[in-house]
Amino acid sequence: TPIVVMASGTGSLMSALLDVAAGDDSPFDVVAVVVDRDCRAAELAAARGVDVVTLRLRDFADRAAWDQALTERVADYGPGYIVTAGFMKILGEQFLSRFTARIINSHPALLPAFPGAHGVADALAYGAKVTGTTVHLVDAGVDTGPILAQAPVVISPDDTETTLHERIKAVERVLLTDVVAAVAARGVVTDGRKAYIP
Ligand code: GRF
Repeated sequence: TPIVVMASGTGSLMSALLDVAAGDDSPFDVVAVVVDRDCRAAELAAARGVDVVTLRLRDFADRAAWDQALTERVADYGPGYIVTAGFMKILGEQFLSRFTARIINSHPALLPAFPGAHGVADALAYGAKVTGTTVHLVDAGVDTGPILAQAPVVISPDDTETTLHERIKAVERVLLTDVVAAVAARGVVTDGRKAYIP
């Protein structure tokens, strides 16, 4: 199953997906990496010979034009699924309706707790004792789509956002790659609120 990965940051999750895809009997391969800015993820993907598509919002007249270009460029690769791995832009209606129930995201908190771009810091600031990671389908909301898998990460008293996020990422790398492999092999069933892998 061809997969397009979208990233904006250091690309550790993307790299974990590339590692699994490189395996002989992997049920998915990464056919392209799409980024919205120059980032470490783009460098790592290019170094591994993966197509990199860079679409900067500022290069387009407005967000709708950017979303249309994003939709067309991703559709050109004929992906079975799209994985957003630290992609720091909200996907527009055109993209979401083109790839309905085929966009998989990893969020570094136990949704519905601590959605949004600062989930790690928010859990820490709140004084939570356990946080974790959530793999879910992307819908029109922010981190509100049907949940596919979750895993806990204990917060220790001397954690900083950085130390906590690195521990969460270590769990994400395993959970996200496992879920993507399972979905690539068996698909996903959803009614828009709940989802499961047959
Ligand atoms: C991950 O923690 C992911 O859950 C969040 O952004 C981070 C991406 O990390 N959305 P990296 O850029 O793959 O290292």
